[in-house]
Amino acid sequence: MEHVDTIILGAGAAGLFCAGFAAAKGASVLVVDHAKRPAEKVRISGGGRCNFTNLYAGAGNYISGNPHFAKSALARYTQWDFIDLLARHGITWHEKTLGQLFCDGKSAAIVEMLLAEARAAEIRLETTVDEIVHDGSSFRLTLSGRPVICRNLVVATGGKSIPKMGATGLGYQIAAQFGLPVTETRPGLVPLTFAPHELDWIAPLAGTAVEARVCANGTSFDEALLFTHRGLSGPAVLQISNYWREGDAITVDLLPSLNAFEVLKAARTENGRRQIQTALATLFPAKLAQALAEKFALTGNLADQSDKALQALAERLHGLTLKPTGSEGYRTAEVTLGGVDTDALSSKTMETRTVPGLYFIGEVVDVTGWLGGYNFQWAWASAAAAGRAI
Ligand code: FDA
Repeated sequence: MEHVDTIILGAGAAGLFCAGFAAAKGASVLVVDHAKRPAEKVRISGGGRCNFTNLYAGAGNYISGNPHFAKSALARYTQWDFIDLLARHGITWHEKTLGQLFCDGKSAAIVEMLLAEARAAEIRLETTVDEIVHDGSSFRLTLSGRPVICRNLVVATGGKSIPKMGATGLGYQIAAQFGLPVTETRPGLVPLTFAPHELDWIAPLAGTAVEARVCANGTSFDEALLFTHRGLSGPAVLQISNYWREGDAITVDLLPSLNAFEVLKAARTENGRRQIQTALATLFPAKLAQALAEKFALTGNLADQSDKALQALAERLHGLTLKPTGSEGYRTAEVTLGGVDTDALSSKTMETRTVPGLYFIGEVVDVTGWLGGYNFQWAWASAAAAGRAI
Protein backbone atom coordinates (compact mmCIF):
# COMPACT_ATOMS: atom_id res chain seq x y z
CA MET A 1 0.00 0.00 0.00
CA GLU A 2 1.41 3.41 -1.01
CA HIS A 3 1.57 6.09 1.74
CA VAL A 4 2.23 9.82 1.26
CA ASP A 5 1.87 12.77 3.62
CA THR A 6 -0.22 14.89 1.26
CA ILE A 7 -2.25 14.28 -1.87
CA ILE A 8 -3.23 17.30 -3.94
CA LEU A 9 -6.08 16.74 -6.40
CA GLY A 10 -5.56 18.99 -9.44
CA ALA A 11 -2.28 19.99 -11.08
CA GLY A 12 -3.60 23.40 -12.04
CA ALA A 13 -2.54 26.83 -10.83
CA ALA A 14 -3.49 26.31 -7.18
CA GLY A 15 -2.55 22.64 -6.90
CA LEU A 16 0.97 23.02 -8.32
CA PHE A 17 1.62 26.17 -6.31
CA CYS A 18 0.48 24.46 -3.10
CA ALA A 19 2.72 21.47 -3.86
CA GLY A 20 5.79 23.71 -3.86
CA PHE A 21 5.03 25.02 -0.37
CA ALA A 22 3.97 21.65 1.06
CA ALA A 23 6.99 19.75 -0.30
CA ALA A 24 9.47 22.46 0.75
CA LYS A 25 9.17 21.28 4.35
CA GLY A 26 10.23 17.75 3.48
CA ALA A 27 6.77 16.17 3.39
CA SER A 28 6.00 13.67 0.64
CA VAL A 29 3.51 15.21 -1.78
CA LEU A 30 1.64 13.57 -4.64
CA VAL A 31 -0.21 15.77 -7.14
CA VAL A 32 -2.87 13.97 -9.18
CA ASP A 33 -4.61 15.14 -12.35
CA HIS A 34 -6.64 13.38 -15.01
CA ALA A 35 -5.33 15.70 -17.73
CA LYS A 36 -2.42 14.88 -20.08
CA ARG A 37 -0.57 18.08 -19.20
CA PRO A 38 -0.42 20.18 -16.02
CA ALA A 39 -1.79 23.73 -15.66
CA GLU A 40 -3.46 23.93 -19.07
CA LYS A 41 -5.49 26.99 -18.08
CA VAL A 42 -2.30 28.83 -17.12
CA ARG A 43 -0.86 27.95 -20.50
CA ILE A 44 -3.78 29.34 -22.52
CA SER A 45 -4.57 32.25 -20.19
CA GLY A 46 -4.19 35.88 -21.12
CA GLY A 47 -4.03 35.09 -24.82
CA GLY A 48 -0.94 32.92 -24.19
CA ARG A 49 0.82 35.49 -22.00
CA CYS A 50 -0.94 34.76 -18.67
CA ASN A 51 -2.34 37.72 -16.79
CA PHE A 52 -0.80 36.26 -13.63
CA THR A 53 -1.76 38.91 -11.06
CA ASN A 54 -3.01 42.45 -10.60
CA LEU A 55 -1.11 45.30 -8.96
CA TYR A 56 -4.26 46.37 -7.12
CA ALA A 57 -5.55 42.96 -6.00
CA GLY A 58 -7.43 43.16 -2.71
CA ALA A 59 -10.48 41.51 -1.16
CA GLY A 60 -12.73 44.15 -2.78
CA ASN A 61 -12.04 42.60 -6.19
CA TYR A 62 -13.63 39.28 -5.26
CA ILE A 63 -17.19 37.98 -5.05
CA SER A 64 -17.94 35.59 -2.21
CA GLY A 65 -20.72 34.80 0.25
CA ASN A 66 -18.31 36.24 2.83
CA PRO A 67 -16.55 39.31 1.37
CA HIS A 68 -13.99 39.24 4.22
CA PHE A 69 -12.92 35.62 3.74
CA ALA A 70 -10.19 36.24 1.12
CA LYS A 71 -8.49 39.01 3.13
CA SER A 72 -6.23 36.81 5.23
CA ALA A 73 -4.79 34.67 2.42
CA LEU A 74 -4.43 37.66 0.07
CA ALA A 75 -2.56 39.61 2.76
CA ARG A 76 -0.18 36.77 3.54
CA TYR A 77 0.69 35.98 -0.07
CA THR A 78 0.47 39.17 -2.09
CA GLN A 79 0.93 40.15 -5.72
CA TRP A 80 4.37 41.46 -4.70
CA ASP A 81 5.35 38.02 -3.39
CA PHE A 82 4.45 36.52 -6.75
CA ILE A 83 6.32 39.28 -8.61
CA ASP A 84 9.43 38.50 -6.46
CA LEU A 85 9.07 34.83 -7.38
CA LEU A 86 8.98 35.69 -11.09
CA ALA A 87 12.15 37.77 -10.67
CA ARG A 88 13.91 34.79 -9.07
CA HIS A 89 12.96 32.73 -12.13
CA GLY A 90 14.02 35.46 -14.56
CA ILE A 91 10.49 35.94 -15.93
CA THR A 92 9.91 39.48 -17.16
CA TRP A 93 6.51 41.12 -17.37
CA HIS A 94 4.64 44.31 -18.22
CA GLU A 95 1.49 46.07 -17.09
CA LYS A 96 -1.08 46.10 -19.87
CA THR A 97 -3.82 48.19 -18.32
CA LEU A 98 -5.60 48.65 -14.98
CA GLY A 99 -2.81 46.95 -13.02
CA GLN A 100 -3.03 43.75 -15.11
CA LEU A 101 0.39 42.08 -15.30
CA PHE A 102 1.27 39.84 -18.26
CA CYS A 103 4.42 37.88 -19.16
CA ASP A 104 6.64 39.52 -21.77
CA GLY A 105 7.07 36.06 -23.25
CA LYS A 106 4.85 32.98 -23.28
CA SER A 107 2.71 31.81 -20.35
CA ALA A 108 4.52 28.46 -20.60
CA ALA A 109 7.27 30.17 -18.57
CA ILE A 110 4.86 30.35 -15.61
CA VAL A 111 3.99 26.65 -16.01
CA GLU A 112 7.72 25.83 -16.04
CA MET A 113 8.18 27.95 -12.91
CA LEU A 114 5.30 26.19 -11.10
CA LEU A 115 6.78 22.80 -12.01
CA ALA A 116 10.25 23.89 -10.88
CA GLU A 117 8.88 25.12 -7.54
CA ALA A 118 7.00 21.82 -7.11
CA ARG A 119 9.95 19.64 -8.20
CA ALA A 120 10.12 17.87 -4.81
CA ALA A 121 6.54 16.64 -5.31
CA GLU A 122 5.51 13.77 -7.55
CA ILE A 123 3.07 14.77 -10.28
CA ARG A 124 0.92 11.93 -11.58
CA LEU A 125 -1.01 12.88 -14.72
CA GLU A 126 -3.71 10.97 -16.62
CA THR A 127 -4.84 9.56 -13.28
CA THR A 128 -8.47 9.27 -12.21
CA VAL A 129 -9.81 9.73 -8.71
CA ASP A 130 -12.06 6.70 -8.29
CA GLU A 131 -12.86 6.79 -4.58
CA ILE A 132 -12.06 8.70 -1.39
CA VAL A 133 -12.64 7.14 2.04
CA HIS A 134 -11.87 8.83 5.36
CA ASP A 135 -11.38 6.79 8.53
CA GLY A 136 -11.21 9.74 10.92
CA SER A 137 -7.45 10.24 10.77
CA SER A 138 -6.33 9.43 7.22
CA PHE A 139 -7.72 9.41 3.69
CA ARG A 140 -7.67 6.31 1.52
CA LEU A 141 -7.89 7.17 -2.17
CA THR A 142 -8.23 4.90 -5.15
CA LEU A 143 -6.31 6.53 -7.98
CA SER A 144 -6.68 4.85 -11.37
CA GLY A 145 -7.47 1.64 -9.52
CA ARG A 146 -4.53 1.88 -7.08
CA PRO A 147 -4.99 2.59 -3.35
CA VAL A 148 -2.96 5.40 -1.76
CA ILE A 149 -3.20 6.61 1.85
CA CYS A 150 -2.48 10.19 2.99
CA ARG A 151 -2.87 12.38 6.08
CA ASN A 152 -3.71 15.58 4.21
CA LEU A 153 -5.95 15.89 1.19
CA VAL A 154 -5.99 19.17 -0.75
CA VAL A 155 -8.78 19.64 -3.28
CA ALA A 156 -7.60 21.96 -6.07
CA THR A 157 -9.74 20.67 -8.94
CA GLY A 158 -10.98 24.10 -10.03
CA GLY A 159 -14.50 24.91 -11.20
CA LYS A 160 -16.79 23.79 -14.01
CA SER A 161 -15.62 26.28 -16.63
CA ILE A 162 -14.54 24.87 -19.99
CA PRO A 163 -15.27 21.14 -19.65
CA LYS A 164 -13.30 20.59 -22.86
CA MET A 165 -10.18 21.53 -20.88
CA GLY A 166 -10.85 18.95 -18.16
CA ALA A 167 -13.13 20.82 -15.74
CA THR A 168 -15.38 18.33 -13.95
CA GLY A 169 -16.83 19.70 -10.74
CA LEU A 170 -15.17 16.87 -8.77
CA GLY A 171 -14.36 19.28 -5.94
CA TYR A 172 -18.03 19.99 -5.30
CA GLN A 173 -18.77 16.25 -5.17
CA ILE A 174 -15.99 15.77 -2.62
CA ALA A 175 -17.42 18.64 -0.54
CA ALA A 176 -20.85 16.98 -0.67
CA GLN A 177 -19.35 13.62 0.32
CA PHE A 178 -17.94 15.22 3.48
CA GLY A 179 -21.16 17.09 4.25
CA LEU A 180 -19.69 20.52 3.44
CA PRO A 181 -22.01 23.22 2.08
CA VAL A 182 -21.55 24.38 -1.51
CA THR A 183 -23.08 27.67 -2.62
CA GLU A 184 -24.91 27.87 -5.95
CA THR A 185 -22.45 27.63 -8.84
CA ARG A 186 -22.86 29.48 -12.16
CA PRO A 187 -20.67 30.59 -15.06
CA GLY A 188 -18.70 33.82 -14.48
CA LEU A 189 -16.66 36.14 -16.70
CA VAL A 190 -18.79 34.98 -19.60
CA PRO A 191 -20.31 36.65 -22.72
CA LEU A 192 -24.01 37.49 -22.52
CA THR A 193 -26.54 36.32 -25.12
CA PHE A 194 -29.68 37.99 -26.44
CA ALA A 195 -33.06 37.21 -27.99
CA PRO A 196 -33.44 37.37 -31.80
CA HIS A 197 -35.02 40.86 -31.76
CA GLU A 198 -31.89 42.31 -30.08
CA LEU A 199 -29.52 40.15 -32.12
CA ASP A 200 -31.04 41.68 -35.26
CA TRP A 201 -29.06 44.84 -34.60
CA ILE A 202 -26.24 43.45 -32.43
CA ALA A 203 -25.02 40.56 -34.63
CA PRO A 204 -24.26 42.66 -37.75
CA LEU A 205 -21.91 44.68 -35.53
CA ALA A 206 -19.83 41.58 -34.63
CA GLY A 207 -16.21 42.59 -34.17
CA THR A 208 -16.99 46.23 -33.33
CA ALA A 209 -15.65 47.40 -29.95
CA VAL A 210 -16.27 50.59 -27.96
CA GLU A 211 -15.27 51.87 -24.54
CA ALA A 212 -18.41 51.71 -22.40
CA ARG A 213 -19.72 51.67 -18.85
CA VAL A 214 -21.78 48.55 -18.28
CA CYS A 215 -23.96 48.38 -15.20
CA ALA A 216 -26.03 45.66 -13.48
CA ASN A 217 -27.44 45.46 -10.00
CA GLY A 218 -25.67 48.62 -8.81
CA THR A 219 -22.17 47.62 -10.01
CA SER A 220 -20.52 49.07 -13.10
CA PHE A 221 -17.31 48.61 -15.09
CA ASP A 222 -15.68 51.03 -17.54
CA GLU A 223 -13.88 48.90 -20.11
CA ALA A 224 -14.22 47.77 -23.71
CA LEU A 225 -17.50 46.27 -24.92
CA LEU A 226 -17.43 43.94 -27.92
CA PHE A 227 -20.39 43.11 -30.17
CA THR A 228 -20.47 39.44 -31.24
CA HIS A 229 -22.65 37.16 -33.37
CA ARG A 230 -24.30 35.84 -30.18
CA GLY A 231 -24.53 39.04 -28.16
CA LEU A 232 -22.09 41.09 -26.10
CA SER A 233 -18.61 40.31 -24.83
CA GLY A 234 -15.39 42.23 -24.11
CA PRO A 235 -13.94 43.00 -20.68
CA ALA A 236 -16.80 45.28 -19.51
CA VAL A 237 -19.41 42.61 -20.27
CA LEU A 238 -17.36 39.71 -18.85
CA GLN A 239 -16.92 41.72 -15.64
CA ILE A 240 -20.60 42.56 -15.32
CA SER A 241 -21.62 38.95 -16.02
CA ASN A 242 -20.37 38.17 -12.48
CA TYR A 243 -23.06 40.49 -11.09
CA TRP A 244 -25.84 39.77 -13.60
CA ARG A 245 -28.61 37.28 -12.84
CA GLU A 246 -31.14 35.65 -15.19
CA GLY A 247 -34.00 38.07 -15.78
CA ASP A 248 -31.96 41.22 -15.01
CA ALA A 249 -31.40 44.02 -17.50
CA ILE A 250 -28.00 45.64 -18.02
CA THR A 251 -27.46 49.33 -18.73
CA VAL A 252 -24.82 50.42 -21.22
CA ASP A 253 -23.40 53.94 -21.23
CA LEU A 254 -21.91 54.20 -24.72
CA LEU A 255 -20.22 57.54 -23.97
CA PRO A 256 -19.06 57.25 -20.36
CA SER A 257 -16.51 60.06 -20.52
CA LEU A 258 -18.62 62.61 -22.43
CA ASN A 259 -21.79 64.63 -21.89
CA ALA A 260 -23.67 63.47 -24.98
CA PHE A 261 -26.25 66.27 -24.83
CA GLU A 262 -23.57 69.00 -24.75
CA VAL A 263 -21.60 67.29 -27.53
CA LEU A 264 -24.68 66.97 -29.78
CA LYS A 265 -25.75 70.56 -29.08
CA ALA A 266 -22.27 71.82 -29.93
CA ALA A 267 -22.34 69.78 -33.16
CA ARG A 268 -25.70 71.34 -34.07
CA THR A 269 -24.33 74.84 -33.49
CA GLU A 270 -21.21 74.09 -35.51
CA ASN A 271 -22.97 72.54 -38.50
CA GLY A 272 -26.75 72.16 -38.29
CA ARG A 273 -26.98 70.75 -41.81
CA ARG A 274 -25.06 67.64 -40.87
CA GLN A 275 -27.14 64.42 -40.84
CA ILE A 276 -27.67 63.13 -37.31
CA GLN A 277 -26.17 59.77 -38.30
CA THR A 278 -23.05 61.57 -39.58
CA ALA A 279 -22.80 63.39 -36.25
CA LEU A 280 -22.98 60.04 -34.42
CA ALA A 281 -20.20 58.73 -36.65
CA THR A 282 -17.84 61.27 -35.06
CA LEU A 283 -18.53 59.60 -31.71
CA PHE A 284 -18.74 55.90 -32.69
CA PRO A 285 -17.41 53.52 -35.36
CA ALA A 286 -19.46 54.16 -38.53
CA LYS A 287 -21.24 50.77 -38.40
CA LEU A 288 -22.40 51.38 -34.83
CA ALA A 289 -23.49 54.95 -35.64
CA GLN A 290 -25.65 53.57 -38.46
CA ALA A 291 -27.09 50.82 -36.27
CA LEU A 292 -27.95 53.30 -33.51
CA ALA A 293 -29.56 55.69 -36.00
CA GLU A 294 -31.72 52.82 -37.25
CA LYS A 295 -32.48 51.47 -33.76
CA PHE A 296 -33.54 54.91 -32.49
CA ALA A 297 -35.27 55.79 -35.80
CA LEU A 298 -33.20 58.97 -36.13
CA THR A 299 -33.79 60.95 -39.31
CA GLY A 300 -33.01 64.39 -40.63
CA ASN A 301 -30.18 66.75 -39.87
CA LEU A 302 -29.01 68.21 -36.57
CA ALA A 303 -30.85 71.50 -37.07
CA ASP A 304 -34.14 69.54 -37.16
CA GLN A 305 -33.54 68.27 -33.62
CA SER A 306 -34.99 70.24 -30.73
CA ASP A 307 -33.14 70.41 -27.40
CA LYS A 308 -35.70 67.93 -26.12
CA ALA A 309 -34.97 65.48 -28.94
CA LEU A 310 -31.20 65.77 -28.43
CA GLN A 311 -31.67 65.32 -24.68
CA ALA A 312 -33.73 62.15 -25.28
CA LEU A 313 -31.07 60.80 -27.65
CA ALA A 314 -28.31 61.64 -25.14
CA GLU A 315 -30.19 59.76 -22.42
CA ARG A 316 -30.44 56.67 -24.63
CA LEU A 317 -26.74 56.82 -25.48
CA HIS A 318 -25.85 57.08 -21.80
CA GLY A 319 -28.37 54.51 -20.63
CA LEU A 320 -29.08 51.89 -23.27
CA THR A 321 -31.08 49.21 -21.45
CA LEU A 322 -30.71 45.67 -22.76
CA LYS A 323 -32.05 42.41 -21.40
CA PRO A 324 -29.75 39.41 -21.91
CA THR A 325 -31.55 36.08 -22.21
CA GLY A 326 -28.61 34.15 -20.82
CA SER A 327 -24.88 33.64 -21.06
CA GLU A 328 -22.64 31.43 -23.19
CA GLY A 329 -22.37 29.17 -20.12
CA TYR A 330 -19.51 27.01 -18.90
CA ARG A 331 -18.44 26.34 -22.49
CA THR A 332 -16.69 29.73 -22.61
CA ALA A 333 -16.86 31.06 -19.01
CA GLU A 334 -13.44 31.93 -17.59
CA VAL A 335 -14.48 31.07 -14.05
CA THR A 336 -17.15 29.47 -11.89
CA LEU A 337 -18.95 31.67 -9.40
CA GLY A 338 -19.91 30.11 -6.07
CA GLY A 339 -18.38 26.91 -4.73
CA VAL A 340 -17.35 25.42 -1.41
CA ASP A 341 -18.93 27.65 1.23
CA THR A 342 -16.26 29.71 3.00
CA ASP A 343 -18.09 29.14 6.32
CA ALA A 344 -16.79 25.58 6.14
CA LEU A 345 -13.13 26.67 5.81
CA SER A 346 -10.47 28.40 7.91
CA SER A 347 -9.53 31.62 6.12
CA LYS A 348 -5.94 31.26 7.42
CA THR A 349 -5.25 27.70 6.28
CA MET A 350 -8.13 26.75 3.94
CA GLU A 351 -8.59 23.59 6.04
CA THR A 352 -12.17 22.47 6.56
CA ARG A 353 -13.50 23.06 10.06
CA THR A 354 -15.11 19.64 10.36
CA VAL A 355 -12.66 17.27 8.62
CA PRO A 356 -9.09 17.76 9.88
CA GLY A 357 -6.56 17.37 7.06
CA LEU A 358 -9.03 18.22 4.27
CA TYR A 359 -8.31 21.47 2.40
CA PHE A 360 -9.97 23.31 -0.50
CA ILE A 361 -8.05 25.92 -2.53
CA GLY A 362 -8.37 27.94 -5.74
CA GLU A 363 -11.46 28.25 -7.89
CA VAL A 364 -13.41 25.41 -6.22
CA VAL A 365 -13.88 27.74 -3.22
CA ASP A 366 -16.66 30.35 -3.21
CA VAL A 367 -14.22 33.18 -4.00
CA THR A 368 -14.30 34.56 -7.56
CA GLY A 369 -12.19 37.43 -8.82
CA TRP A 370 -12.79 40.11 -11.39
CA LEU A 371 -11.21 39.83 -14.81
CA GLY A 372 -7.59 41.05 -14.77
CA GLY A 373 -5.30 38.60 -12.96
CA TYR A 374 -7.36 38.46 -9.77
CA ASN A 375 -8.31 34.80 -10.16
CA PHE A 376 -4.73 33.63 -10.45
CA GLN A 377 -3.80 35.78 -7.45
CA TRP A 378 -6.49 33.95 -5.47
CA ALA A 379 -5.09 30.60 -6.70
CA TRP A 380 -1.57 31.57 -5.53
CA ALA A 381 -2.71 33.07 -2.21
CA SER A 382 -5.09 30.27 -1.19
CA ALA A 383 -2.50 27.67 -2.25
CA ALA A 384 0.20 29.36 -0.17
CA ALA A 385 -2.14 29.48 2.84
CA ALA A 386 -2.79 25.72 2.68
CA GLY A 387 0.75 24.75 1.64
CA ARG A 388 2.31 26.63 4.56
CA ALA A 389 -0.17 25.10 7.03
CA ILE A 390 0.29 21.47 6.00
P1 FDA B 1 -7.51 24.94 -12.54
O1 FDA B 1 -8.70 24.83 -13.40
O2 FDA B 1 -6.37 25.76 -12.98
O3 FDA B 1 -6.93 23.50 -12.21
C1 FDA B 1 -7.76 22.42 -11.86
C2 FDA B 1 -7.07 21.14 -12.25
O4 FDA B 1 -7.85 20.04 -11.74
C3 FDA B 1 -6.98 20.95 -13.75
O5 FDA B 1 -5.66 20.65 -14.12
C4 FDA B 1 -7.93 19.79 -14.04
O6 FDA B 1 -7.49 18.96 -15.10
C5 FDA B 1 -7.93 19.04 -12.71
N1 FDA B 1 -9.15 18.26 -12.51
C6 FDA B 1 -10.43 18.69 -12.64
N2 FDA B 1 -11.27 17.68 -12.41
C7 FDA B 1 -10.52 16.58 -12.15
C8 FDA B 1 -10.83 15.23 -11.85
N3 FDA B 1 -12.10 14.79 -11.82
N4 FDA B 1 -9.81 14.37 -11.65
C9 FDA B 1 -8.52 14.80 -11.72
N5 FDA B 1 -8.16 16.07 -11.99
C10 FDA B 1 -9.15 16.95 -12.20
N6 FDA B 1 -7.33 34.08 -14.53
C11 FDA B 1 -6.46 35.10 -14.35
O7 FDA B 1 -6.25 35.52 -13.21
N7 FDA B 1 -5.80 35.64 -15.43
C12 FDA B 1 -5.98 35.20 -16.70
O8 FDA B 1 -5.33 35.66 -17.65
C13 FDA B 1 -6.95 34.16 -16.90
N8 FDA B 1 -7.24 33.73 -18.17
C14 FDA B 1 -8.12 32.69 -18.34
C15 FDA B 1 -8.41 32.25 -19.62
C16 FDA B 1 -9.30 31.20 -19.81
C17 FDA B 1 -9.66 30.77 -21.22
C18 FDA B 1 -9.89 30.56 -18.70
C19 FDA B 1 -10.82 29.40 -18.86
C20 FDA B 1 -9.61 31.00 -17.41
C21 FDA B 1 -8.73 32.08 -17.21
N9 FDA B 1 -8.46 32.55 -15.94
C22 FDA B 1 -7.58 33.60 -15.77
C23 FDA B 1 -9.01 31.89 -14.74
C24 FDA B 1 -7.96 30.93 -14.15
O9 FDA B 1 -7.52 30.06 -15.19
C25 FDA B 1 -8.54 30.11 -13.00
O10 FDA B 1 -9.11 30.97 -12.04
C26 FDA B 1 -7.44 29.27 -12.34
O11 FDA B 1 -6.86 28.41 -13.29
C27 FDA B 1 -8.00 28.47 -11.17
O12 FDA B 1 -6.96 27.68 -10.67
P2 FDA B 1 -7.29 26.27 -9.99
O13 FDA B 1 -5.98 25.62 -9.74
O14 FDA B 1 -8.24 26.45 -8.88
O15 FDA B 1 -8.08 25.45 -11.12
